[in-house]
Amino acid sequence: MGEYDIAVIGGDGIGPEVTAEAMKVLDAAAEVYGFSVNRTELPFGSDHFLEHGEIFPDAAFEELRGRDAIFLGAIGDPRLPVGKIEYGIIARMRFDLDLYLNLRPIQLFTEGLCPLKGKRPEDVDMVIVRENTEGAYSGMHGFMHKGQALEVSTQTMTYTRQGTERAIRYAFELAMSRNKRKQVTLIDKANAIRAHDLWTRTFAGVAREFPEVTTEHAYIDAACMWMIKNPEWFDVAVTPNLLGDIITDLGAMVQGGMGLAASANIHPGRVSLFEPIHGSAPKHAGNNSASPVAAIMACGMMLDYLGEKPAAAAINGAMRELFCSERLTGAGTGDHPTNEVGDLVAGELRQPASSV
Ligand code: IPM
Ligand code: MG
Repeated sequence: MGEYDIAVIGGDGIGPEVTAEAMKVLDAAAEVYGFSVNRTELPFGSDHFLEHGEIFPDAAFEELRGRDAIFLGAIGDPRLPVGKIEYGIIARMRFDLDLYLNLRPIQLFTEGLCPLKGKRPEDVDMVIVRENTEGAYSGMHGFMHKGQALEVSTQTMTYTRQGTERAIRYAFELAMSRNKRKQVTLIDKANAIRAHDLWTRTFAGVAREFPEVTTEHAYIDAACMWMIKNPEWFDVAVTPNLLGDIITDLGAMVQGGMGLAASANIHPGRVSLFEPIHGSAPKHAGNNSASPVAAIMACGMMLDYLGEKPAAAAINGAMRELFCSERLTGAGTGDHPTNEVGDLVAGELRQPASSV
């Protein structure tokens, strides 16, 4: 029987509320599929920082390495300087645990959730593989003449051959294992960002190792357009960090909203981080109105990563069933009380409607 040691960071804003629902579903999955979970709740986030002056103490951070997975609700708070807590918690985990892949599936449960006319579930089923440790997020930046009229600010995008190649190779392997269209699209901006030529060349090299996989290419601006016009053209897409950040918010809307989009920040074989892609939405915090669907789906991705495939598939199936039967009708703020959604999904896991 699997036994998993998981660190849980509820975080800021709506983070703790959506995390609580994901944990209800995790407990139900453990019960039904016969594994056990030992959870360690970590208090880090903006409140903790404002009260104690620490963001993520090194000792607590190092303990993460010994766990099986990390679950994060959301981080971000307008009371703090822009980016401070995001860099101290989310980016630190991504960089220092070398979580080089950010997997962001975009899947449509039911036609009614899609804002695009005439798109069906079979038209929206893709995974964006976002490179997660380099690019514009590397943090190399500086200011000259700060605060003065002639101020200059710079930030360097960094791409390494190894970092680029490992993300691209994973995308090809994923296209093979999904066994759908067996297609990988490279999304970049090589026509303007000349450093993306490394992506162009690396992609071509890795593609030669996967003769069964069809390759496509789209510049990020065109990819945004295709994502709306023809989402059915995408199977797996791989893209640098910043572009992946941007296009996955767009993808979230195509599948029905930010309340639905989950992500896995992984380094295969090592402790990895699972989180909804939405932020902390401070204005909705404490109202019991935020959708925890994305957090629950992130929990499903965590179980898939841990090897609990039937439990992961059941969470996905339960969610699809709830949307298709209209017991869940949306994943926007206020569509359902937050604390009822976890119960619905947990109930569906314990007693699937199809078996009643
Ligand atoms: C995301 C978020 C983060 C990012 C922020 C919170 C730093 O937008 O996970 O998509 O830009 O990666
Ligand atoms: Mg983002």
